[in-house]
Amino acid sequence: MCGIVGIVGSSDVVHVTELLLDGLQKLEYRGYDSAGIYVTNDQKQEHLIKVKGRVADLRNQVSDDVQGSIGIAHTRWATHGEPSINNAHPHVSENGRFYLVHNGVIENYQELKAKYLSNVNFKSDTDSEVAVQLVQYFVDKDNLTTLEALRKTVSLMPDSAYGFLLIDNEQPDKLYVAKRRSPLLIALGDNFNAVCSDALAMIAHTNKFVELHDGEVAVLTSNSVDIQDGNGNHIMRDPYTVDMDASEADKGAYEHYMLKEIDEQPIVIRRHLTDYFDENKEPALEQSLINEMAQADRIYIIAAGTSYHAGLVGKRIIEKLTNIPVEVNIASEFAYNYEIISEQPFFIFISQSGETADLREVLNRINKDGYSSLTITNVKNSTLSREATYTILLKAGPEIAVASTKAYTAQISIEAILAKALGMKLNNFTAQNFDLFGQLSVVANAMQALIDQKDKLRNIAEKYFVNATDAFYIGRGIDYAVSLEASLKLKEISYLHSEGIAAGELKHGPIALIEKGTPVVGILTQENVVALTRSNLAETQARGSKVLTIAMKKFAVTNDDIVIDDVDELLTPLLSVIPAQLISYYTSLAKGLDVDKPRNLAKSVTVQ
Ligand code: G6P
Repeated sequence: MCGIVGIVGSSDVVHVTELLLDGLQKLEYRGYDSAGIYVTNDQKQEHLIKVKGRVADLRNQVSDDVQGSIGIAHTRWATHGEPSINNAHPHVSENGRFYLVHNGVIENYQELKAKYLSNVNFKSDTDSEVAVQLVQYFVDKDNLTTLEALRKTVSLMPDSAYGFLLIDNEQPDKLYVAKRRSPLLIALGDNFNAVCSDALAMIAHTNKFVELHDGEVAVLTSNSVDIQDGNGNHIMRDPYTVDMDASEADKGAYEHYMLKEIDEQPIVIRRHLTDYFDENKEPALEQSLINEMAQADRIYIIAAGTSYHAGLVGKRIIEKLTNIPVEVNIASEFAYNYEIISEQPFFIFISQSGETADLREVLNRINKDGYSSLTITNVKNSTLSREATYTILLKAGPEIAVASTKAYTAQISIEAILAKALGMKLNNFTAQNFDLFGQLSVVANAMQALIDQKDKLRNIAEKYFVNATDAFYIGRGIDYAVSLEASLKLKEISYLHSEGIAAGELKHGPIALIEKGTPVVGILTQENVVALTRSNLAETQARGSKVLTIAMKKFAVTNDDIVIDDVDELLTPLLSVIPAQLISYYTSLAKGLDVDKPRNLAKSVTVQ
């Protein structure tokens, strides 16, 4: 949550303001209720501009004379204090010397305020402002240098999450940085150095990045980077290269990232076929991972949001192909209900961003307890990837729209590849007879066939969903897992109340909500329950609902609305979710909503 970027450069060659605004725009998926920028130079020509609203609104307020050699910028997802100009970052110390942006939450800010800052006149309601006022306090009162004051400040926040960027306007050649639990990377450019929440912010200007670890601070100038650990020891850390084409993060001809990302799903599956299978069309994954997982008596999947829904599908696939029981847990729940673990557990963390704080809370705990883990993520070198024993990358390309689409199908595809590899190792009969490579090739083509039905899905959205007040997706087994994701998509971007319901549970309560015209979508891809789900749909229809169906060809009847090609029943979620993604997209579009940046949400959730 919140995107931050800071740059220190030679002002004659680097347009700091432009780089900050461009970087901020790329980070907007992290939060977008207000934004701000501070730029200065060695003449002390300072500019502080803040807006309530989007980065585009900020850009409109920034005139050509806003130039400098150093600057920081922030796009906010409010935690403490409503979205407003006063609560927008950067925050300024009372004496006007220090400027700071923050991503994270300072848990004990009230105590710190009461203990050290009772005489300070605060301008905002945020927890973040406490940090900048504390820096001033320790510089003034204890005569500390700026770096010492920053160190002292963060030492008083041992349980908090922060990425801080700080500028002291008496030293406009230095950018001060501190990190704990919030993502921050150093970017090494030509004639400048930068710090950002995500490589996306700077990838158009450099592909060389340096990790920052928790508890570290750093001081950057335009041509030097000094990283120090908690004890002040200097850390030498090699840069790494991010192989991402800047154009991958562009919308291109698309009106919205979400539609582009929906369209990219067949490409991602084909990429998995090339990158994760050997010449015998068998999965090619790290052998030590498979060996270790084969020892497990139980697999624990930990995830949140859409990734949790992918985990629910993964459970079915892994259990079927390996016979190892799988438990899927919502990270924020499991973090505080961790007591009963099996003898030989193996943990899988599923996270598109690799940064979700709820998952990290669990990972910290299992690392302390010495258990092995795998992170399945889209972001190389992300926190959860670095801190788990193993990583498998989703290779879905940057996912920018807040509502996740291609990451979900990529997660399921990776789970299937992992399950097949593990099943082969365990000599599982079902795994041995499962032609996953062939099936995924069919899936990639079948996905395309669904994506090509946009006009039909747009009509369905406009006719049945745009004016609805409630909507339901129902299914049994793996179709129920997809119903949850389908319904989440609708909620997230069209603000339509929807539920994913186990079809057999309708009669135990939710059917009371059915009114004339309420859309109820049945997902029908599992032979043993298709007939039962059809009966449940009929029960809602008898009470006035508008029934719609997504059925697999071999179980389809003539009036089914969307028919998906025949694939193995374990892989149908890769297809049945696509009509739901498109229905949500077109519902949101028809309602005139901001498809890619829905209200109140953010893509990378680094607070608990
Ligand atoms: C946020 C996003 C969701 C995402 C969830 C988990 O809520 O809006 O789209 O599914 O976080 O994120 P992760 O990066 O861990 O998959």
